[in-house]
Amino acid sequence: ELEYNLRPRTLEEYIGQKNVKENLRIFMEAAKMRQEALDHVLLYGPPGLGKTTLAGIIAAEMGVNIRITSGPAIERAGDLASNLTNLNPREVLFIDEIHRLNSAVEEILYPAMEDFVLDIMLGKGPSARSIRLDLPRFTLVGATTRAGMLTGPLRDRFGIVFRLELYTVDELKQIVKRAARILDVKVDEGGATEIARRSRGTPRLANRYLKRVRDFAQVMADGVVTREIAAEGLNRLGVDVLGLDSVDQNILRTIIDKFGGGPVGLDTLSAATGEESGTIEDVCEPFLMQIGFMSRTPRGRIATRLAYEHFGLPYPERNDGAQ
Ligand code: ADE
Repeated sequence: ELEYNLRPRTLEEYIGQKNVKENLRIFMEAAKMRQEALDHVLLYGPPGLGKTTLAGIIAAEMGVNIRITSGPAIERAGDLASNLTNLNPREVLFIDEIHRLNSAVEEILYPAMEDFVLDIMLGKGPSARSIRLDLPRFTLVGATTRAGMLTGPLRDRFGIVFRLELYTVDELKQIVKRAARILDVKVDEGGATEIARRSRGTPRLANRYLKRVRDFAQVMADGVVTREIAAEGLNRLGVDVLGLDSVDQNILRTIIDKFGGGPVGLDTLSAATGEESGTIEDVCEPFLMQIGFMSRTPRGRIATRLAYEHFGLPYPERNDGAQ
């Protein structure tokens, strides 16, 4: 419930993703002027950056309902058919993890997106027939962690494609302050900065950390989230000064300790760390690469000099050209 309440409902309230906001505002305005459904929108980027939130904002700003589902939840063609036939004109159908749709479902989605029709097969074998149902014009908002995981034909059917970026510390600070107002938590400037710095560019983490640090502030101090309380609380949660959690640390330390700094292939790294390769690729790597702690080379992942320095380890001189 709270999670939902923290979500901004208008583009105006939404902090960060400047480029997405500016363009989206124009596309929505134009579609409204033409009294049309907004073109289909694909949102991609690491988890926790606000893809579901943006889908909700699109629906609210277009003045329509949103129906929310996910790739894994749509098991059979009939599941998608019922989602589509229940839509009203210009409504938003949000499919999270859209890369996980199976191919039978995807086949149904193509004509629905392109021509707003539903082809339904009746019967099997030589006597099979198909009937075609008209659908209302709707907006599909698809979300995925990486656009590259979508099939080409599916990707091509989105008229609007946005990549969400990791947030800056300053943007996260604004998000923490906004959430603190809504949750009625007292956070000072230092406290907001400390949470923002340790949130790995990710609003979902910033909001989660705010709630946990509030608990420490309440029980161990006077309820005000200061820099000291935030640092103490996050240290106790295993989140270090740069926001690396135990999973990030495990990945980097494994590359350094077991593979001499790399390069090491994704599957090998996954086996050695016990972390799923999807988690490594979608959740950890974008941040670790952004802060310059990890690089991807054709032969695999390497830990950089900065990563060694962060852990207080001597950087081994290399002769393979890796940095
Ligand atoms: N809460 C989570 N993400 C947000 C964002 N981008 N703007 C404002 N509040 C948020």
